[in-house]
Amino acid sequence: MNEPQQPSTTADGTTADGTRQPPPAAAEFTAPAEPTVPAGPAGPAGPAGPGEPHGPAEPTGSPEQSAPHNPPEPTGPTEQTGQTAPVEFADYQNEIYLHGLQGQIPPFTTDATALGASARAHLDAGAFGYVAGAAGSGATHRANREAFDRRRLVPRMLTDATHRDLRTRVLGSTLPAPLLLAPIGVQSIVHPDGEPATARAAASLGVPTILSTASSHTLEQVAEAAGDGPRWFQLYWPNDDEVCASILARARRAGYSTLVVTLDTWTLAWRPQDLDQAYLPFIRGIGTAIPFSDPAFRAGLARSPEEDLRAAVLRWVATFTGTDRSWDRLPFLRRHWDGPIVLKGIQHPGDALRAAEAGMDGIVVSNHGGRQVDGAVASLDALPRVVEALDRAGSRTEVLFDSGVRTGSDVLKALALGARAVLLGRPYAYGLAHAGEAGVRHVLRSLLAELDLTLGLTGHRSPAELGPDDLWEHP
Ligand SMILES: Cc1cc2nc3c(=O)[nH]c(=O)nc-3n(C[C@H](O)[C@H](O)[C@H](O)COP(=O)(O)O)c2cc1C
Repeated sequence: MNEPQQPSTTADGTTADGTRQPPPAAAEFTAPAEPTVPAGPAGPAGPAGPGEPHGPAEPTGSPEQSAPHNPPEPTGPTEQTGQTAPVEFADYQNEIYLHGLQGQIPPFTTDATALGASARAHLDAGAFGYVAGAAGSGATHRANREAFDRRRLVPRMLTDATHRDLRTRVLGSTLPAPLLLAPIGVQSIVHPDGEPATARAAASLGVPTILSTASSHTLEQVAEAAGDGPRWFQLYWPNDDEVCASILARARRAGYSTLVVTLDTWTLAWRPQDLDQAYLPFIRGIGTAIPFSDPAFRAGLARSPEEDLRAAVLRWVATFTGTDRSWDRLPFLRRHWDGPIVLKGIQHPGDALRAAEAGMDGIVVSNHGGRQVDGAVASLDALPRVVEALDRAGSRTEVLFDSGVRTGSDVLKALALGARAVLLGRPYAYGLAHAGEAGVRHVLRSLLAELDLTLGLTGHRSPAELGPDDLWEHP
């Protein structure tokens, strides 16, 4: 099959825009010999504060902190992650400060809102524009962030939040935290290691990775990289049913548990950053590894993609772009996927209800990071309306969220508005650009640590305690 092209720049750690050369021995921290990181409640005091033991957990918070909008536990498929004990993600903060005693600083910034700027130095203009770019004027991309900024957390005090448990049930599995990696295609344009590096980083933390149909590596390669790590598969719905069924069967065989069907990108939006550079990875044969390695797709070609890339690309374009679907086609997917199905790209409460009526297990409230409909509603503004509609209908369809998530506070805000978990997008792609697998791990550990700390500092011990009363909205 056609090998993805190498990006013209590599993540070599060049100093620019505040980015720094990773420590020579490794691109991320390894545990220092001395002093050791505080291990738990009885460990020595670390930067997070005194580590004295506390009594047994008791219910916290006032009644208004309950979150009735989170639907009850689903009766779903069997446990997939085997997550048995809570992880103290906040320890990464201690680790960073303790490394500081040895003169080490993090490989690149811990501020997720600054990652785009620092990743720029590692990417060529085409790749950077593809990742950072948005549809049209970028109004929805900006609105996604503004919607987070408009809402502020209201911390509660004296809630005994020293010890926290971020584990979250999502579609029948226990995740270590309410976080998944959003599907991001063509990752080899930001780092040659691409999707397998991302999958390894996610698996090392037990965070599910959602592999895009537009992957630059085959789904089998990524499954191998993920090992025992939880993995979901995202479908760009091809208009050839045999190709679709074949890809889905491969994904199931390779251990992808959950199908995410992206509905908002049946054709590409007007994206000036890409258009101005006439840059589209797919027509260069990047991000086509899954169909190009698919027997049903290859059967439709006179010559293989290795022999005739142009013909294969043309068939790819005809198969994967330009065909919208209708609700009555969903049973086809059900017939070809025996695990949970999640529809991604829902913004309107009416569409959420239709998804629920169609028996979908979940939805992702998403506007594709502002990359599709310029001027569309901010995803966070859509979220409470969607949740309210599903609640009123008594639906058990689970609500996931993405578009604009950058910080731990952002995650908390989306959870407070009724999302069960969130998908992280661009930040991890920027981490990949900085330092491959280690870069994704640094971004993930930073976000999880910030989430853990902020959960506690707002007075909560678990994500399930969050509710709308934890947020105030400012005009
Ligand atoms: C470079 C890039 C590629 C993406 N590729 C896909 C994809 O292949 N499939 C998909 O469903 N969503 C894709 N998305 C959308 C993400 O899954 C997610 O919805 C979006 O990144 C959320 O916005 P945020 O990154 O601003 O938080 C892509 C996003 C970016 C930035």
